[in-house]
Amino acid sequence: IKKDLTSNIDYTATIPLNGNIPNTITEKLGKNLHLTTDHPLNLIKKKIQHHFAQQKDGPAFKFYDEFSPRVTSKQNFDELLFPKNHVGRSANDTYYYSRDQLLRTHTSAHQTHLLRDSQRAFLVTGDVYRRDTIDSVHYPIFHQMEGVRTFTPAELAKLAPNSAKLEYNSATNYYEDAEYKNNEEVKLVEAHLKKSLEDMIRDVIGHPDMQIRWINAYFPFTSPSWEMEILFQDKWLEVLGCGVVHPSIMTNCGLIDSRGWAFGLGLERLAMILFEIPDIRLFWTQDSRFHNQFRGVDKNPKELTHIDIKNVKFQSYSKYPSCFKDMTFWLPTEGFHENSYYEFLRSIGGDLIENVEMIDQFKHPKNGKTSQCYRIHYRSMERNLTNEEIDKIQTEIRSKIEKHLNVQLR
Ligand code: PHE
Repeated sequence: IKKDLTSNIDYTATIPLNGNIPNTITEKLGKNLHLTTDHPLNLIKKKIQHHFAQQKDGPAFKFYDEFSPRVTSKQNFDELLFPKNHVGRSANDTYYYSRDQLLRTHTSAHQTHLLRDSQRAFLVTGDVYRRDTIDSVHYPIFHQMEGVRTFTPAELAKLAPNSAKLEYNSATNYYEDAEYKNNEEVKLVEAHLKKSLEDMIRDVIGHPDMQIRWINAYFPFTSPSWEMEILFQDKWLEVLGCGVVHPSIMTNCGLIDSRGWAFGLGLERLAMILFEIPDIRLFWTQDSRFHNQFRGVDKNPKELTHIDIKNVKFQSYSKYPSCFKDMTFWLPTEGFHENSYYEFLRSIGGDLIENVEMIDQFKHPKNGKTSQCYRIHYRSMERNLTNEEIDKIQTEIRSKIEKHLNVQLR
């Protein structure tokens, strides 16, 4: 959730009363990959926790790994200052149980209750859910880690003794306000945040000289905000979002005159880089050829100790051949949501669908209708697919799609 994508639609009205969570998602609830010993996501999680456990310059970090992904829209959006018309709230992007219960779209959903509970420094790890495209780096469930560190007025007075005082004012636009952004306390928190995250990422990746850069970003719940990018194999890759916690949030949580920083990091992204894992579906495989490569890497599963992953690289077992099928249809005039199409495909083809791309679009000159052609690539991570089974899936898709999405096959 990155941009201030707002429109004049009231997204609450788009949420089906009985929600929009398909079985393909329900089946995966409670798998808790991040809690499974020697799973690559667990290894990364422990490395980051271990790094923060070593920090001695402030309050001790507490770790929370078992919060339920089912949260309220208040926790996931309202308390984090998402406007009512933010697209992230739409049922096209988010899985809802009902209008006010949903599957968290980010671990930031836990920030405010922990801040209210006076927790001063913490990491929250968990599974998060987003309706999205289908390809090698996108999957509707992934894992995030949230980090928050606060500074009390006393600590700030010590670290930035000459800072001008910032009176909280609900009328101030903290996303823009120069006095706020240049305030010495805010600058101090910014510097602490960037240093902490640079140290963490270099430690976890194991390259003390790793190149890092900061890009200005926008999140409703932090200001100022940034994304960290790292130079990996000649490419700048985004690894996390972060910022100074918005003063309204601190105030609403009873932390008047305190400040804080927060970050949110995708564990799959980091694991894919570190272990050279080429496809995000592999995190969900049961194949022992995948899991055997990580078995025993964590020498002390019950304790938070250093884990050496320097030489742990995933060796792709031979990729099974892929095949593709094209599918062309007329879009309904009332609108078409690609995420619903992807989800529909997954509901039938499951993880055998490797990616889906639109390869052609055509607008009829007379009736103005649009036709789109999609290429669906199939591949198993575990075995050879037979023509028969792909044909069967494809036939089922074709037989159900018109009714399901109101399109017209060509
Ligand atoms: N929750 C944000 C996301 O999912 C990341 C973030 C966390 C940004 C904390 C700022 C502070 O994209």
